[in-house]
Amino acid sequence: MTKLDALKRKQLKKKISMVTCYDFWSARWLDKSKVDLILVGDSGAMIQSGHKSTIPADMDMMVAFTKNVAQGTSKHIVADLPFMSYRKGMDLGLQNIEKLIRAGANSVKLEGARGNIELIERTVESGIPVMGHVGLTPQFINQFGGFKVQGREQEAHDAILEEARLLEQAGAFAVVLECIPHSLAAKITTEMKIPTIGIGAGLECDGQVLVLHDLLGLNTDFKPKFVRRYLNGEELMLEAVDRFCTDVAEKQFPSPEEAYD
Ligand code: KIV
Repeated sequence: MTKLDALKRKQLKKKISMVTCYDFWSARWLDKSKVDLILVGDSGAMIQSGHKSTIPADMDMMVAFTKNVAQGTSKHIVADLPFMSYRKGMDLGLQNIEKLIRAGANSVKLEGARGNIELIERTVESGIPVMGHVGLTPQFINQFGGFKVQGREQEAHDAILEEARLLEQAGAFAVVLECIPHSLAAKITTEMKIPTIGIGAGLECDGQVLVLHDLLGLNTDFKPKFVRRYLNGEELMLEAVDRFCTDVAEKQFPSPEEAYD
């Protein structure tokens, strides 16, 4: 999705959908879905690798996830730049962005505006679309003291609004708004020309993103207010595996048709 496509969507008031993906098989079936954008999120550190936060995600992990997903889909892939991979100077930032693009991403996403503006400008000038991310930016979890709604106090509200503005000015093609009051998300959405993609940010955003495992009900340890489960994935998968185990125990599998002569 180019900046032009994103702007057109917003102008036409056509909502954008995005889900996360980290592996080949999920990318293959998501390719057949209606979803607009596939996000190789650094949430993969939690969902795929079992970490407690996104902080342990690194470039090797994100490049591997991106390669997996790129093998399975021709949809637009947004890849997350992991913790600190874009905060140690322009050259290293650009090298890491190049790695994600060479791994198959079509654009990159990074958290926050402050300290990132020049890098975003250089990246966009290099032909690489950049998605911003403000509000509850999980790479700042140690500063926030946990996964908490951001922007309720005036100072934080103004800071988030300003960051969104800076990202738009720097050339970002869209911005994720995570866990902020819906009134603030609505204000940002109305003010900006580029689309906003919300997660825990209300209906007024130009699009919505969810972590795939949350929407499929595979991550039953985690059910924040903003997650809607569209499937009882864990229950259904357990049932299938348990039926297999019962069939094995009761000598019902394999049948003669499932065996070789
Ligand atoms: O890593 C991720 O999954 C994300 C989404 C929550 C937007 O950044």
